Amino acid sequence: MAIKTSSLPLQKTQEAVSKLLVDYLESSIKRESNVLNQYPPEFINEALKTKSFFENGFGSVEALSNFLKTYLIHTNHLHHPGYMGHQVAVPQSLSGIPDWIHGTINNPSSLYEMGPAGAALEGYMIHWMLDQFGWFKGTDYNDFKRYPANGSGFLTHGGSIANLTALSAARAEIAPEAWNEGSPKDIVVMGPDNAHYSILRALSIMGMGKNSYVPVAVDENEIIDTQALELVYKKIQNEGKRVMAVIGNACATATGLFDPLDELADFCEKHHLWFHVDGAHGASAILVPSERHKVKGIERADSLIWDAHKMLRVPALCTAVLFRNQHHQWNCFHQKGSYVFHDSQVVGIDSMPFTIECTKSALGTKLYWSFALEGEQAIRDFIAHSFTQAKELYTLMQNHPDFYCPYPPASNILCFQYKPDILTNQEQLALRYEIINSSPFYITSCEIKGKRYLRVVLLNPLTQLSDFKSLIKAIEVRAEKVIS
Ligand SMILES: Cc1ncc(COP(=O)(O)O)c(C=O)c1O
Repeated sequence: MAIKTSSLPLQKTQEAVSKLLVDYLESSIKRESNVLNQYPPEFINEALKTKSFFENGFGSVEALSNFLKTYLIHTNHLHHPGYMGHQVAVPQSLSGIPDWIHGTINNPSSLYEMGPAGAALEGYMIHWMLDQFGWFKGTDYNDFKRYPANGSGFLTHGGSIANLTALSAARAEIAPEAWNEGSPKDIVVMGPDNAHYSILRALSIMGMGKNSYVPVAVDENEIIDTQALELVYKKIQNEGKRVMAVIGNACATATGLFDPLDELADFCEKHHLWFHVDGAHGASAILVPSERHKVKGIERADSLIWDAHKMLRVPALCTAVLFRNQHHQWNCFHQKGSYVFHDSQVVGIDSMPFTIECTKSALGTKLYWSFALEGEQAIRDFIAHSFTQAKELYTLMQNHPDFYCPYPPASNILCFQYKPDILTNQEQLALRYEIINSSPFYITSCEIKGKRYLRVVLLNPLTQLSDFKSLIKAIEVRAEKVIS
């Protein structure tokens, strides 16, 4: 029987897809539709003719194009300047090309020989990242000899996996027997009460249970109270337990505020504790001289995670796990797969022994591409700009009698309430849905100390001051609808 492979003409199909994507970008940028038009999944699958194509194939370029046109309608249009949503990068218009390349050639880069070019770019970018924290001591990012003074790292699929990897390395340090025998019962992790949920999830996955996370009090804006560290530590010791790691937020997911990393590093140094910085969003502050002080102390961490798909304009997912001391990376997973991990010297860099995933995408290519499109400085300028955008919106809201911002922004995340004396928590949330369902804006929401806030994450460089003014107007108008 002849197996059908591809009946669609290669070039014509790719050209049709490319044209539709260009149209999509242009119309998003021109605000031709709202950021998001929400429909139920049943409606979307009907509109896409999902069942028919699944069973019979697209059959023609026209049918595939119609499918894609419909698909693109039912997306969250991140390139629309009204997108002020989750911590998901607005990629540059040409950022999708590495995913297209990867999807075409399918060279997973965790094993060097399966994707040499992607792995080489990953190695280069990891050296560049390490250098931002003073953890690369060489002179050439393209020098892959093993220098003991260098830190180390690799890319992985997302911040949640990255936190799990870093915490596994921390456990390998304090309890190396855990790999074979399971987690000892006497190890815990300390950190801010508002650590990202992936930290607790990691502890559960590691068999330590989420109760092994000992929360340290946070202040009214959910920044860790470093005064409380010693007391918590004493309590842990009195219970006969050992601290496996101390977590610092850089920055906190909801508020975008940074924990005082230098003070956390002092505490960790004093007690010889592993210091892990969750820099998924805010480690990027290191790239802007005027914002760098916010992550002072990050360079004293033992492990650090940094999401490129948040602030570095890289399409999801792409996260770096970095270690100040490279032997922590080598010790992390004590597992062998004879078909992949060779004892003898092999050409290139295999990240597979260190990553949770066995096969991984060509993440280095995506990361490199984002910088190579316009050059390194363009990414630094983008981060500086997005932090400035948050300050601009904050100033507008501060000067408006009906808006309340609990703190000045420290990053590109800003939380606020509209008429907090009148609107309940539930109504603040209802206001968010009014905005995303019936206005050209997309915003998010969060809780700080049990109170509901509206929240923006400013990642679109095309968002203008006039958009902020229109957002304020849109909120004023929509609020009338939600006040009961
Ligand atoms: C501080 C922090 N850590 C970890 C994560 C998880 O990252 P990811 O969504 O890449 O898994 C997030 C996501 O928003 C985050 O804000």
